[in-house]
Amino acid sequence: MDMSKRMGSKIKSILTADQFSKTELDNLLNMSEKIEAELETRKSIPLLKDHILAALFFEPSTRTRLSFESAMHRLGGKVITAVGMQFSSLAKGETLYDTLKVMESYADVVAIRHPVVGASSIAAQSISVPVINAGDGAGEHPTQGILDLYTIHKRKNLSASKNINIGFIGDIKYGRTIHSLVKLLWHYNVNFTFISPPELALPTEYEALLQEKNASYSITDNIEEIYNCDVAYITRIQEERFPDRSEYEKFRDSFVINKELILKCKEDIILMHPLPRLNEISTDVDGMPQAIYFEQAQNGLYTRMALLSDILGCPMV
Ligand code: CP
Repeated sequence: MDMSKRMGSKIKSILTADQFSKTELDNLLNMSEKIEAELETRKSIPLLKDHILAALFFEPSTRTRLSFESAMHRLGGKVITAVGMQFSSLAKGETLYDTLKVMESYADVVAIRHPVVGASSIAAQSISVPVINAGDGAGEHPTQGILDLYTIHKRKNLSASKNINIGFIGDIKYGRTIHSLVKLLWHYNVNFTFISPPELALPTEYEALLQEKNASYSITDNIEEIYNCDVAYITRIQEERFPDRSEYEKFRDSFVINKELILKCKEDIILMHPLPRLNEISTDVDGMPQAIYFEQAQNGLYTRMALLSDILGCPMV
């Protein structure tokens, strides 16, 4: 039996940041705001009682998996989890299709992280419950994009502000969180500056999309461009994506954001990072009011609660 039809839910997978209209994004930002406000006075908002999330994480994760799990618990739902290929029957040679197929009867929504670009789209075509892309290789990470958007909105008011300068710094080639966030931010009035070594620059397909959208952007390897930014979004060099790991060594310390550099930036710049970080932001920055990466991770709870409740047809109103 098609469980999703029996339960009356509408399939609404989240596979790419491309899929959201500006109206849907504004709606998600509003829902996240309401959820955040509600959680100041109570521990849970039981919109998803009796619903089950399957969290299938075939690549390492801390924030994404645990914030999805926390979000589902705080919505009154339940979670089942498979972590790491080696601890699932994939290690015995089972296909991903077979693994996913059984999830249809175990769960109402599946969040999947997988090293292959497009894996979540294939999953969504294979099963009849909604699928959430929780990171597909160097492709996208759309729910991280939503939490990043919410963080920028809270601090800089995307709807009212004019021309926010957003600098992306680090591994822009392989950084999937950047790929998704760019696709969300082009609905708003922002200027993009992409700061990276030339070898890790924005992939040409994203540049073509920015041109198609008539977006204002520049590409540089000069870290001093950060001085013009209102938001600096820093990423780790993604060692695991390099075909030749020795190449990674060349780039690992390309940019290090430290207190001395931040003191030369706009006073109200905000520093974001999807985490985990390595050396790219030194810990002397953590105590500065500009450093909001831990608040950013916290926002993942509110936005994922908004997304889950919306997907499962019980949105926060
Ligand atoms: N930002 C992010 O995706 O973190 P994790 O890899 O810890 O989930």
